[in-house]
Amino acid sequence: MDDEKNYQNYLKKIKLFQKYNKHYYDLNQPLVDDYQFDKLKLEIIDIEKKNSFSKHKDSPSYSVGFKPSKIFKKIKHKSPMLSLANAFSEEDLINFEKKILNFLNNEPGIILNYSAEPKIDGISASLIFKNGKFVTGLSRGDGKEGEDITENLKTIEDIPYFIKSKNFPKEIDIRGEVFIQNSDFEKLKSKFANPRNAASGSLRQKDPKETKKIPLKFIAYTFGYEKGLKAKSQDEYLKNLKEWGFKTNPLNKTLKKIENLMTNYHEIEKKRGDIDFDIDGIVYKVNNFQLQKRLGNVANAPRWAIAHKFSANSAISRIKDIEIQIGRTGALTPVAKINPVNIGGVVVSNATLHNEEEIKRKDIRVGDTVIVERAGDVIPHVISVELDKREKNSKKYNFPTKCPCGFKTIKEFNKVTKKFDAVRRCPDRGYECDKMAKEKLKHFVSKEALNIEGFGKKIVENFWSLGLIKLPQDIFNLNYSKIENMDGWGKQSVANLKYSINLRKTISFERFIYALGIRHIGLENAKIISKNLKSLKNFIALSKKSNFDDLINIDGIGETQINSIKVFFSNETNLNVLKNLDKLLKVKDTEISKAGGLLNNKTFMFTGKLSNMSRSEAKSLIEQNSGSIVSNVTKKLDYLIIGEKPTNRKVDAAKNLGVKILDQSTWLKMLK
Ligand code: IVH
Repeated sequence: MDDEKNYQNYLKKIKLFQKYNKHYYDLNQPLVDDYQFDKLKLEIIDIEKKNSFSKHKDSPSYSVGFKPSKIFKKIKHKSPMLSLANAFSEEDLINFEKKILNFLNNEPGIILNYSAEPKIDGISASLIFKNGKFVTGLSRGDGKEGEDITENLKTIEDIPYFIKSKNFPKEIDIRGEVFIQNSDFEKLKSKFANPRNAASGSLRQKDPKETKKIPLKFIAYTFGYEKGLKAKSQDEYLKNLKEWGFKTNPLNKTLKKIENLMTNYHEIEKKRGDIDFDIDGIVYKVNNFQLQKRLGNVANAPRWAIAHKFSANSAISRIKDIEIQIGRTGALTPVAKINPVNIGGVVVSNATLHNEEEIKRKDIRVGDTVIVERAGDVIPHVISVELDKREKNSKKYNFPTKCPCGFKTIKEFNKVTKKFDAVRRCPDRGYECDKMAKEKLKHFVSKEALNIEGFGKKIVENFWSLGLIKLPQDIFNLNYSKIENMDGWGKQSVANLKYSINLRKTISFERFIYALGIRHIGLENAKIISKNLKSLKNFIALSKKSNFDDLINIDGIGETQINSIKVFFSNETNLNVLKNLDKLLKVKDTEISKAGGLLNNKTFMFTGKLSNMSRSEAKSLIEQNSGSIVSNVTKKLDYLIIGEKPTNRKVDAAKNLGVKILDQSTWLKMLK
């Protein structure tokens, strides 16, 4: 069967699957028996495994055996369910600790204690207890809002229903992992791809009786909000959990010093095969709750915890060719095309070589036998060359100095390191380089940018090659009747596409800035800019000003970012894109949340050294209380906070402008 037919066959099965699902879950009138239903699921998963096309959003591999949205009530988590940053090496751990210590102002004598907990690869759940009774159980959902799966969770034996212990808090949201033991999974193998899918599928069955049939387990490890928790540290909390009747991980330990974390990591990695549940790393948490509180969160992960993932699997293969890929920001990334090898269950046929310097340093050549590693979700990469296997007539690899689009490439000089970059780039010329333009479009529609569902990378490539899209605005002026008649498309799929595109015509200012794909303006910077400039109008206005003063004063936005924005505005095509998008889209102004914090909407700036507190901690305290930080003394500044040895120039400027000047203790009093 050719690809096209294969895909049509796949879509047909997905449609049938949607129909079965609807009858089963929404209408409660199953069309077929379980056997036929499961058979179809497996057929779909099998097609996906054998083909490279992207999976349909309704594929059972995303949602084994459940329909996520409609059957369960959505409930907001009182405290968000965060994720964890990853570490892959000892170096990552050293950096993790260093950052923590810096944040804590390197207070002398601090030795960090960590709770080291093997990370179970299951499904997290939040269990709310009031007056000792389990009242509500939620899935993680998107971290902010979960699904009410109380009845299903009640079927799990490991979850106590009444807790009578004296020290049990009046209210607490106990969190942990729902999973299936490997030995139990053996019996379910034919139905699910892996234990995690099996746990997820059965946890979200509409009928709790179905959930009960599967031997789900629960291990508790953290909490969300609480009223009346006495524990002062994670190890104390874990002890409490056991007393209250919860299971905790028997391999948990409290340790200090990175070297001990490493020894424990290697020991547990060795035991991995003997444990009856899947673990994919070790979670380290700063043990002391007071320190955890001070450290707080970055984006959606705590500063006080990290997941140390188990080491990558590696394999040996041969480089057939080296291909140059051009990224959105023009970076030329060499990719080794290797003979396909199975690394830890995934067939790998591409491995990144990072950049020109890396090829030079390791003297990597076409034809070489190499060791390839795959770690977690990171792109596989070449570790080293097996020199004794190198063929005699092999030649050094010449890195191209031209972009495939024809432009000459450059290596930028880094003013900070005083060195040339390791990366070679096609200079940003708006949308002139075809390769970059396509990458920019892929970025524009991607999940964190406009998030146009169903508009994947392959569609961008396809529409581009047919001349349907060249610039972002073209996405909103598609010739739908032409697409409808194209191979692989039909009335329904075009209607779906149109629907998802129209849905994103209203968009937040933050996403919009990120979607433009300006170099050095990632998610975090887009957020900062949107908070400060507040509207697209103000952003466009930057192009009319000869200076970028509005940006200079924003804390977190530096010279690199400003220069990059200047480059963006200096290009005619970019200006044209902005103008058109402004007409086609409704970009919502940034809503500054009236969180009503103690420092609501006030701006602050620091000068001089603070005592017992790092700048990052001070900044985070201000932001937690709805204030913001600026980086220059202007009329817009409300308070200048002075520490030890302040810069006189800043203090004088503040005095001249009538800005209030506070010392550290007066400022801390404002925070009560
Ligand atoms: S603590 C603090 N502790 O890992 C925020 N999570 O990548 C994280 N997980 O969604 C929760 N074992 O599903 C924590 N001992 C453990 C864990 C653990 C597994 C999972 C959990 C979470 C994910 C974060």
